[in-house]
Amino acid sequence: MKRILVTGANKGIGYAIAERVLEETDDSFVFLGARDADRGGAAVKSLRQPAQDRADRVHLVELDVASDASVARAAEDVSRACAGEPLYGLVNNAGIGFGSSDLAEVFNVNTRGIQRVCQAFLPLVGDGGRVVNITSASGPNFVATCSAERQAFFTNPEVTWAEIDALLTECEGIGGDKDAFAARGLGDGSAYGLSKACANALTLHLARENPRLTINVCTPGFIATDLTQGYVTDSGRSPSDLGMKTPREGADSAIFLLFGEPEGSGHYYGSDAKRSPLDRYRAPGTPPFIGD
Ligand SMILES: NC(=O)c1ccc[n+]([C@@H]2O[C@H](COP(=O)([O-])OP(=O)(O)OC[C@H]3O[C@@H](n4cnc5c(N)ncnc54)[C@H](OP(=O)(O)O)[C@@H]3O)[C@@H](O)[C@H]2O)c1
Repeated sequence: MKRILVTGANKGIGYAIAERVLEETDDSFVFLGARDADRGGAAVKSLRQPAQDRADRVHLVELDVASDASVARAAEDVSRACAGEPLYGLVNNAGIGFGSSDLAEVFNVNTRGIQRVCQAFLPLVGDGGRVVNITSASGPNFVATCSAERQAFFTNPEVTWAEIDALLTECEGIGGDKDAFAARGLGDGSAYGLSKACANALTLHLARENPRLTINVCTPGFIATDLTQGYVTDSGRSPSDLGMKTPREGADSAIFLLFGEPEGSGHYYGSDAKRSPLDRYRAPGTPPFIGD
């Protein structure tokens, strides 16, 4: 039985990942993470409906990735439900803040949330298990605007969580002063871009520290969800006119990293499930990135 926890899975891309895991892998079991029990319960109900065999293969886990206490409680719940059997996979999908300027709030979910969940849940993942972090092309796009020194930081295979945490704290100290970010080689200080660039770097750290696991990171692509709805509304155009894809298409790369044959651990993948660089955008369909 492949037991997989997906965070932020009550809607959007996380829900689509959970649905495709259940559909495409008969021996799978999904722990559906949701910070709100009612929203999570509704998602579990809807995932259970299409086929009777699914009713026993999806279970709600109340999990707010921004809260130490909630993550600790959720790890206890999952450990109890697993009854000594290991998790096969963990998908860190929960995310916020596309267009937000609240650095602390966005970092606490998109970056510190991943570290918090990994600290609590990696001991439950069995040898050879998979961890998939969902970040964004906003990460490499942000790194491309940074100074050479900062770019070296974001792509350093030896980067540590302590260094990443210190950078997040430094950025929170700068606050909303865009000129100060630029002066420090940190582009425009976009909360979302920074959080995702740091989550990509965190994946390097996690992969290095956990060689018994395969830990990779991907962008889902440009997907029509609640996260991007404001952008659609402001543009006055339709998601398809804007080239956006569906949440199910946005699950492609995560499904590959869960069940396919990625090259190794500690790599960033594009929405086409091909390797991509950490410091510049690679469009889907163009040659994959080759390198460390
Ligand atoms: N859509 C895109 O174009 C796009 C592009 C690149 C990357 N991404 C990334 O893909 C991931 C999924 O985004 P989406 O587009 O599917 O957005 P979404 O529809 O807004 O879904 C986000 C999910 O994360 C959950 N969440 C937010 N804060 C949480 C917290 N503190 N604890 C637990 N769950 C939390 C939300 O729960 P609630 O319902 O309770 O708010 C929701 O289930 C995010 O990491 C996002 O950054 C999306």
